[in-house]
Amino acid sequence: MDKYCARSGSGVHAPEGRGSRSASFEARPNIALVKYWGVRDRDRALPYNSSLSVTLDRLRTRTTVRFASTLAADRVVINGAEATGGPREGVVLFLDRVRAMSGLLDRAEVESDNNFPTASGMASSASGFAALAGAASRAAGLKLSPRALSQLARYGSGSASRSVFGGFVEWRAGERADGSDCYARPLFGPEHWPELVDLVVLVRGAPRKEVRSKEAMQWTVATSPEYGRRLTEVPRRLAGIRTAIARRDPDRLFPLVMEECDSFRSVCETTRPSLDYLTVTSRAVLTEVRDFNRERGRPRAAYTHDAGAHVHVFTLRREASRLRARLARVPGVESTSFLRPGPAARPLGR
Ligand code: DP6
Repeated sequence: MDKYCARSGSGVHAPEGRGSRSASFEARPNIALVKYWGVRDRDRALPYNSSLSVTLDRLRTRTTVRFASTLAADRVVINGAEATGGPREGVVLFLDRVRAMSGLLDRAEVESDNNFPTASGMASSASGFAALAGAASRAAGLKLSPRALSQLARYGSGSASRSVFGGFVEWRAGERADGSDCYARPLFGPEHWPELVDLVVLVRGAPRKEVRSKEAMQWTVATSPEYGRRLTEVPRRLAGIRTAIARRDPDRLFPLVMEECDSFRSVCETTRPSLDYLTVTSRAVLTEVRDFNRERGRPRAAYTHDAGAHVHVFTLRREASRLRARLARVPGVESTSFLRPGPAARPLGR
């Protein structure tokens, strides 16, 4: 059987030659300062609002994809264990998209490893699908620009579109129905603001995420009476956050980051049935950050969290050890560690 069927999609070159083909790619997770929460077009994976995140250093996913005509089915191994059910299905659907783009018909073997445990509090879907997008597209012979890679990655996980780039990244929702103006772009590199650090606070007994965010957010769209208002507010906050980062201005940035996180939490909590991601400990950490700022007399830290119980606290290097000692004392806090803005996703080997 021929490996390739007719090409679909424009600007994409089908690979030449035969045999098995493989590629490896590395990507890092990100934490959103402006949250993506709500899909306006499921088929094209288009979000309602633009979002903004920081790609993190030290943590990474490495993924190798090998297409081969001898394989009868796609095989997915994550952290050494054969994936089944939903996680495998997500990868297979993604490979189907890459096959449709390239004309390649072969099944693939996917091996993916994170250097951070799920229990580290970092969602692995952003780095996972960014790395998969890079490895699968290269293995299939597609030569995608970083922007096109971000457009592909969002089909696996919306937040993965941002992990294609390093430093401070914006994912533009765009306005066109065909999604051509929806992509991620880098705003500032990882070295832009050396003073800024992310203190990751892990809480004990964080519940396992039962439902993927891409599902849960649609319940919010359908049922939260506050969602419409949030959508009208996000552009102003995003613009403010972008400017504050450009000027390296914590007095402006930190209150906006907390306001945005509070807005995200509020639409989750007013979803029916309610989405409550925090534990008593997470809430105590938020209170501690508010108290810290009040005592310091100006904003010196900002909390944010995703759809989970762990909390990221952005602060300045000179405040970091004092704040860390304080947050480590909150009952139920498991650990605290520092992360910094990190580099873009990249191909490995060859
Ligand atoms: C709260 O696109 O990462 O982290 O596809 O289910 O993994 P899944 O969802 P994803 O949703 C991210 C939601 C968020 C906010 C954000 O990262 O922007």
